[in-house]
Amino acid sequence: MSGAFHDQVVIVTGASGGIGEQIALQLAAQGARLALAARRAEELNRVSRLCVEAGGATIIVPTDVGDAASCQDLVARTVAQYGRVDMLVNNAGLGMWSRAEDVSDLTVFERVMRVNYLGAVYCTLAALPYLRATKGRILCISSLAGRTGVPLRSGYSASKHAMAGFFDSLRIELSGSGVSVTLSDPGFVGTGAQGRNLSATGQPLGHVPIDMAAAMAPAECARQSIAAAAGRKRELVMTARAKIGLWLKLIAPGFVDGMAAKATATGK
Ligand SMILES: NC(=O)c1ccc[n+]([C@@H]2O[C@H](COP(=O)([O-])OP(=O)(O)OC[C@H]3O[C@@H](n4cnc5c(N)ncnc54)[C@H](OP(=O)(O)O)[C@@H]3O)[C@@H](O)[C@H]2O)c1
Repeated sequence: MSGAFHDQVVIVTGASGGIGEQIALQLAAQGARLALAARRAEELNRVSRLCVEAGGATIIVPTDVGDAASCQDLVARTVAQYGRVDMLVNNAGLGMWSRAEDVSDLTVFERVMRVNYLGAVYCTLAALPYLRATKGRILCISSLAGRTGVPLRSGYSASKHAMAGFFDSLRIELSGSGVSVTLSDPGFVGTGAQGRNLSATGQPLGHVPIDMAAAMAPAECARQSIAAAAGRKRELVMTARAKIGLWLKLIAPGFVDGMAAKATATGK
């Protein structure tokens, strides 16, 4: 058990499945001491057992990141258990999948913003005094949709743009503090999350709407994100195609709109 996070105290939100579960497992394998947060306690218990088997220590803290008091409680319970916080991973997330003009339940936009944007803000501001004390790290699992618009995902893209704007600003405010802010911008990752995306009616979509054969594996997304945070990188864009796309956006934004439309149609 070795690595940048051996003995480090890390809070992982959205640790009950998907990318967050993989981040927790990989940090556990480095010997990290984890606070696992999400709403589903039984899934947190399952992930906790796997983390302990992998070599980590855990507490589980059932948390709704959309509720500021719940985020404060998450940090307080972490500090009560371990006495410090070395990294906060803002990973909990909720997507949407619908044309904006088809949305009949307008709370979709608010619900997505509350989890993806406000959840990260609430957890970060609660943890920041402790992260300052340890010259710690903030890792945000954002999205390529936080850097460019994506059809069928307007509310989700807006929430990840909000996340990017907040954390790009916070990084400047934290200059000289020793606290690093890393934004990770994955493309499609094979977690099944798209099936949980809110549909036009506000209900989960219930099926994955695109071919995910080309999606990145959650473990690989976690590996790259952890490495970027370990290296205190400001931003991680994971594939050559995505990197080229973000450069092209500066000179040919219409072309990049076409890439985004193709991605939501084909998964590539
Ligand atoms: N999968 C992709 O293609 C992809 C691509 C780019 C970025 N991302 C981002 O990566 C992150 C993880 O996505 P994923 O694919 O792993 O999704 P996922 O499999 O659906 O997992 C989402 C996690 O967030 C938690 N969560 C949702 N609402 C929450 C709330 N109100 N409070 C606390 N936890 C909450 C869920 O746990 P509970 O249900 O137990 O609360 C779950 O652990 C998200 O921020 C997502 O936007 C995903």
